[in-house]
Amino acid sequence: MEYPLCLTQPVHGGTFAGSGISQSWNDLALWEAFFDSHPCASVLELGTWRGGMSVFFAVQGLARGIQVVSVDRDLGQAEGRAVGEKLGCEYLSVDLHSDGGRLEIQEVVGRLPKPLMLFCDDGHKPGEWQAFVPMLSPGDFAAVHDWGREIHEPDLVPSLPMVWGEVCEEAGSWTRFFRVP
Ligand SMILES: C[S@@+](CC[C@H](N)C(=O)[O-])C[C@H]1O[C@@H](n2cnc3c(N)ncnc32)[C@H](O)[C@@H]1O
Repeated sequence: MEYPLCLTQPVHGGTFAGSGISQSWNDLALWEAFFDSHPCASVLELGTWRGGMSVFFAVQGLARGIQVVSVDRDLGQAEGRAVGEKLGCEYLSVDLHSDGGRLEIQEVVGRLPKPLMLFCDDGHKPGEWQAFVPMLSPGDFAAVHDWGREIHEPDLVPSLPMVWGEVCEEAGSWTRFFRVP
């Protein structure tokens, strides 16, 4: 029988709670374990797309008391938005790579409770990292998707220590977590 879920690679057509998601199930398992061992007070997702990941974060937020914000320049594609909002996620329409967008993210980072987790999953991950990671405070976290594909070690300016690199690699995940010392 054809099995419709891919456990190790993101597949377009994959869903979480019915909304399109660009993560694989092993990524979600890593996020679950990460939140268990690294309590976060807020999550800022850069790149909502169809919204499945924002719904996943919103469920985590409701259960664990994490404030969740998801940002995209095109929220028209975010089919998960209605359920995400019911679960407490805030959605913001922002062009991340405009001057106004950078100022807006600075304002959001400033008002979100710490420790904050910044999840870089937009269309230009090195640019996001370089623009927004410097806004983080000691004790905050950052994560990227498409590690080794769209973003690589030399793109990490400023550089941050990786958390659980071997675990993510062994899991075949494209997610990597980092901590702001
Ligand atoms: C890989 S998808 C996000 C996937 C989502 N985080 C998930 O896990 O399902 C990247 C998203 O970044 C958005 N994007 C690309 N460039 C952008 C920009 N300059 N500002 C805001 N969003 C942008 C696209 O609209 C797209 O929805």
